[in-house]
Amino acid sequence: MEQNNSKRELPPLFEKPVHKQYSRTEVSNHCDASSCWIVLDNKIYDVTEFLSKHPGGPDIILENAGRDATVPFKDKGHSMDAIRLIDQYYIGDLTVSDRLGRH
Ligand code: HEM
Repeated sequence: MEQNNSKRELPPLFEKPVHKQYSRTEVSNHCDASSCWIVLDNKIYDVTEFLSKHPGGPDIILENAGRDATVPFKDKGHSMDAIRLIDQYYIGDLTVSDRLGRH
């Protein structure tokens, strides 16, 4: 049975984000080895602890520190193992207005 659309218009109380949200500007403050965040597909990862463990070396991640690394990450063609690995570094999402590709 079709649902009434009014369910989509709940008051803000029920729209609290499940995950913490950060703007691209906030992400850009975490741009070196002391605190290194990257954006992949609108999600934010704190990869500070991962830098020294990255099989591709720390430098290539540091070049993308504080920035959107989606394109270089995908261009390199990471394995499924790598894609699974990133989950443990997930800290939140971009704010809705800073997301790319979906609104
Ligand atoms: C959380 C973020 C990242 C994770 C978990 C990750 C993980 C990995 C893993 C597991 C490998 C080994 C090969 C494979 O399994 O595909 C790898 C290799 C590599 N990664 Fe990443 N990576 C990350 C971010 C990046 C970024 C942003 C770049 C930028 C271009 C990058 C560039 C590379 C390169 C060039 C290699 C190849 C090293 C080689 O085989 O010579 N990685 N990465």
